Amino acid sequence: MTANELRKLYVSYYKERGHKLAAATSLVPENDASVLYTTAGMQPLVPYLLEKEHPLGKRLVNVQRCVRTGDIEEVGDDYHLTVFEMLGNWSLGDYFKKEAITMSFEFLTEKLNIPVSSLAVTVYKGNDKVPYDAEATQTWLELGLSKEQIFYYGDDENWWGPAGETGPCGPDSEMFYVNDLPDCSEECGPACSCGKYVELGNNVFMAYNKDKDGNLTELKQKNVDVGLGFERLLILANNLQNVYETDLFVPLINKWKK
Ligand code: ALA
Repeated sequence: MTANELRKLYVSYYKERGHKLAAATSLVPENDASVLYTTAGMQPLVPYLLEKEHPLGKRLVNVQRCVRTGDIEEVGDDYHLTVFEMLGNWSLGDYFKKEAITMSFEFLTEKLNIPVSSLAVTVYKGNDKVPYDAEATQTWLELGLSKEQIFYYGDDENWWGPAGETGPCGPDSEMFYVNDLPDCSEECGPACSCGKYVELGNNVFMAYNKDKDGNLTELKQKNVDVGLGFERLLILANNLQNVYETDLFVPLINKWKK
């Protein structure tokens, strides 16, 4: 599968499910001083996640270039790049956890043929203000994941908000590809960076707004913000080892070799 074919497959999958294609935006955000670069597909959508009406409706899909300065130290391994593309989709106060997780799961397992047994997911375990995400767990179990494939983490791993730290945020449920490697320790799991678990994407349930003092307010509009790692899915779709073996890089590398 070429990079273009994967982009098209993804966008058409969500269009068939009622999503409208939102244009990608500049890497340098407009009207947003909270970040230097666009770090996620949701960044330009902040006003709409905070209840402004989006002209395209309540279901969106897009492919957005992103820069994460926090990833720079990782560039050069199999998966991290200076600029990556995020396959994003959103529910702006429309469907919520069950539908979002089910669509993500079916895209990975039915469209990309990733075996269910090669997946692991994480679920928010809750804190004194926000409860444990029982609905996410239940949905993953109903879709056929075993209890052993579900891991529970707190605010450090399973809570997501934009890089500016204020704005729409919420508990999330991440999806991982499990490489055929032994556990590196008794604590080995998706939060570990030993290489066994490769993050494929994140389902964020943006039901809160965080102010600059760190206070959370529940939003009337319960949103879903899903982002998948385009290059990583391209590697898996083609049974490759690293991003440099994909058609994003091979033509360039071949040119340099000449
Ligand atoms: N915005 C979410 C993330 O980047 C999907 O993980």
